[in-house]
Amino acid sequence: MPSAAKKWLLKILSSRLAGDDFVWLTLDAPPDWQSRPGQFVNIRCCEPCADELSPLSLDDRPDAPWPRTRGLEIAERSTLVRRPVSICDLRTHPDGGREIVLLVRIVGPGSRILSAKRPGDTLDCLGPIGNAFNLDAPGRRAWLIGGGCGIAPLVGLGRALVARGREVTLFYGGRDSGKIPLSLPPGLGPTGTQAVPVTGIPELGGAPLVIATEDGSLGVKGLVTDALQAYAAQTGWDDVALFGCGPDRMMSAVATLVALHDLPSCQVSMENFMGCAIGVCLSCATKVRADNTAGFVTKFVCQDGPIFEARDVIFEQKWEGCKP
Ligand SMILES: Cc1cc2nc3c(=O)[nH]c(=O)nc-3n(C[C@H](O)[C@H](O)[C@H](O)COP(=O)(O)OP(=O)(O)OC[C@H]3O[C@@H](n4cnc5c(N)ncnc54)[C@H](O)[C@@H]3O)c2cc1C
Ligand code: FES
Repeated sequence: MPSAAKKWLLKILSSRLAGDDFVWLTLDAPPDWQSRPGQFVNIRCCEPCADELSPLSLDDRPDAPWPRTRGLEIAERSTLVRRPVSICDLRTHPDGGREIVLLVRIVGPGSRILSAKRPGDTLDCLGPIGNAFNLDAPGRRAWLIGGGCGIAPLVGLGRALVARGREVTLFYGGRDSGKIPLSLPPGLGPTGTQAVPVTGIPELGGAPLVIATEDGSLGVKGLVTDALQAYAAQTGWDDVALFGCGPDRMMSAVATLVALHDLPSCQVSMENFMGCAIGVCLSCATKVRADNTAGFVTKFVCQDGPIFEARDVIFEQKWEGCKP
């Protein structure tokens, strides 16, 4: 059951740029904060818009890889609507303190405002929102597949599954090596058609990662589903539970593989556009198969999701590219 969302003012503990266009944020978790892997927060990015968005507040990061933009230009695009961001992880330190980890891809005004936040600033968050991944899905081996910011909810999920004794492998796909927000060990390169798990990535707490890049600059050349199929060709599909998060086309590709190999479970986190995230604006509607004359019912990702069984979802963008 989705839990009731509350409004929180969460203090930023750290902000770190990663890859070409990502930022990792850690937030101080209040003592009564409870969240589960797969849930998200809806963040107010602009408060108050005009004052906070001085050119300085956005452009004073000498390490920022993106072009300089005047604050007012950004403020003119609407950031009044909150932006949904997955809870990447909830970590407990040896001293008992806890921090919420977020990974944000900088794609527009809202995420850029988040990237300009500094330690000591606060974030106005509604959450935690949505259902969570079912950690008891059948399968000794858990394969977690993400693309772009879709890696975010898989980080905490991977840790939770490892704690339950599952053998976890992550798969991540990006356009090129700059699109990977993780601290990779030195010396990695292309692996052609071979899926080679990489270990020792601090953000993943030791879980192995198989990388795919579309330009072939790192890991398997191709899409993340190519890396998944290469790995399955090496290790077989037995006793596997799949978990995924990414754009519709990627999740549709994963669903095709699930059907092809008759896997018992594949949970996907949907990234539909959202307005309110409280079930009012209807902008996050998605079609879920049903035994009625239409063949489907409409569900709302913010309230009924974001996690769904892949076989239940009717993806808007079909994918025909997966080979058996
Ligand atoms: C449940 C959920 C969890 C999410 N978790 C994360 C996360 O952990 N990290 C993260 O970086 N992003 C996440 N997103 C996506 C994030 O909400 C959007 O990238 C963000 O709202 C963009 O805001 P913006 O103002 O920066 O860009 P906008 O100007 O709003 O959009 C810029 C570009 O991004 C595209 N875009 C915007 N929203 C989405 C979306 N929901 N799905 C796909 N494309 C989109 C637009 O088409 C446009 O091309 C999540 C979305 C959902 C629904
Ligand atoms: S985002 Fe408004 S109904 Fe889901």
